[in-house]
Order: sequence, then C-alpha cells, then structure tokens
Amino acid sequence: MKQSAKAKAHTNIALIKYWGKKDPKLFLPMNSSLSLTLDEFYTETSVEFNKDLEKDRFILNNEEQSEKETQKISQFLNLFRQEIGCTTPIHVSSQNFVPTAAGLASSASAFAALGAAMNSLTEMNMDLSTLSTYVRRGSGSATRSLFGGFVEWQMGDCNENSLAIAVDDASWDIAMITVAVNTKQKSISSREGMQLTVDTSSFYPSWIESATTDLKNIKKAISNKDFEQVGLITESNGMKMHGTMLGALPPFTYMEPLSLEVLAKVREIRGQGWQCYFTMDAGPNVKILCRQSESESIQTLLKNAFPNNPVIISKVGGDVELI
Ligand code: PMV
Repeated sequence: MKQSAKAKAHTNIALIKYWGKKDPKLFLPMNSSLSLTLDEFYTETSVEFNKDLEKDRFILNNEEQSEKETQKISQFLNLFRQEIGCTTPIHVSSQNFVPTAAGLASSASAFAALGAAMNSLTEMNMDLSTLSTYVRRGSGSATRSLFGGFVEWQMGDCNENSLAIAVDDASWDIAMITVAVNTKQKSISSREGMQLTVDTSSFYPSWIESATTDLKNIKKAISNKDFEQVGLITESNGMKMHGTMLGALPPFTYMEPLSLEVLAKVREIRGQGWQCYFTMDAGPNVKILCRQSESESIQTLLKNAFPNNPVIISKVGGDVELI
C-alpha cells in the first residue's frame, strides 16, 4: 500500500456563481456554475498514513491546526478511508500559495489538493470528474478546482452526478486581475450567507432562473471565443448574485464603498477601450476578467487609481497535479 502522496491545485473564480445549496449535507447546489481556474493562487498538500498517530494531524502553513479545524479535515479524509475500509490516522501538511494580501478564499484549492492527494494515497485513482464528487463535500467551490481553464460544476440531483467537467482550456488570451479591497476575515461566511439568502430572499427564485440562462449563454460565448459576451455575462451574473443578498432578511452585502469605486473604475477603463469586466464573491474584493495581452496596462491604470491596494494579475491555471 502507498504511504504518502502530494498534490497541487489552483483556486478558481466563478463567472456564473454558485450561491445556495439544495442539500447542505451532500453539498448539492441549487444551480450549476462555471469558473476560471487561476494559475497564480494554489495549494500544495501532502498526506501520509501514520500508524503511530492517535488521530489525524493537520499542519497548515507550518502551523498545527486546532481540534475543530482538524476535525473538519478528518471528516473529509473519512470519505476516502471508508471506501478502502481503512482507519489509519493521516498526517496532512498543507501550504497555501494564496497571499493573504490578495483577499481570496483558499478553500477551493485546499480541498481540491487534499482530494487529489487522497485519491493517489488510497490508490482509488478516480478520474477528475468522479473525484470532484468527493472534493465537493469539502467545499462547494472546490468541485471546480480540479480542472484548468473554464470549468462547469453540473448541479446534478444526487451525490454521483453533481460533478465538474472541463469546458475549455481558456488559452485564448485571458487573464484575471484581483484588486484587494479589504483582506480581513469576512463577518458572514459564504456558508451562512448563502443559507440566509436561500431561506429569506424574495429575489432568490429569479436568481436561479437567470443563472440557468446565463450559464447556457456563457457556454455558447466560450465555444465561439466571444470574449465580450463572456465578460458581459460574467459581470451581470455576479451582480445579480449580490442583488439576492439585498433581498434577504435581514438584508446584507459584502460590498464596501471602495468595492463600488473599483467597479466604477473598471467601467471607466472599459470606456477607454480596454476589455475588462468585474465580478465579486463573498467578500469586498474585486476580480477583473481581461485579456492577458492587456493585463499589465489595466493593472497600471488600477494601481494608479488605488495606490494603497494590492492589484494582482493571474494567468489561467491548469489541472490539479500530483507532485
Ligand atoms: O464553496 P464556497 O463556500 O467557497 O462558496 C463559494 C461562493 C462564491 O464564491 C460566492 C461563488 C462561487 O461559485 O465560487
């Protein structure tokens, strides 16, 4: 039996958002989503069977993690262990290459890397779509981080068919810029925020309807390599997701005044002829889809406008890899 394995996975940013679960236990989403994998931000994770340990150990960025954090990881490891009828404790060591200054969540790359390492350690050797049904139960957005380029998470209706598929390698002059607005931990987690929205927002049913149409249209635009359409749909879909939160009880928002200034700046830069489109997730930071060939010029314009905020370019990332 194999004793250890190591994997590297990139984070992803959704262009068509996942916002709400129809089965919180199995992490079955209310709608299908689509993302772009980013090269710049990733997690490397190694796993090792260790009979001498009493229970699992979880080291993140060289620091031993709390009982609570380790338990979350143990639950995830059990999904794999139970498949091969094993109870041996595992030593998990993870390094995040997602700079805190970027203000991006690392749970997507973290669970994708851990899942891929476990797939190898347990010699289950599943293909990436099948593996995504395991990774999904660590964190929803992680489902999409096993593949590079544009990736669809098909919502499905049971554990086995809620999975990721590769859509396009996005090798046609595409990049993403992150403007970090505020990198402090958010006060409402994505898990809490989406549940409150599903339970109380009167805008939620129309969000689901339009996310379904947006997904269909963005896939058409991707297959036509129509960058403008991809950008316009991305921008509209992201703002509609944020709109659902204003319809929740109590209403809430992840936007901060500076987020709105960045959105206005992106519109202004686009008005000057640069191709750039914004999106935002469960936090105040702004991500900008753009042409890779124009990314440095756009970065300069943004840095000039927001000299105190990190502005980070990322190229398109590839599939998860064993290392
Ligand atoms: O799976 P989580 O908890 O990382 O939730 C992701 C929610 C969004 O980032 C807002 C949207 C998405 O599809 O990634």
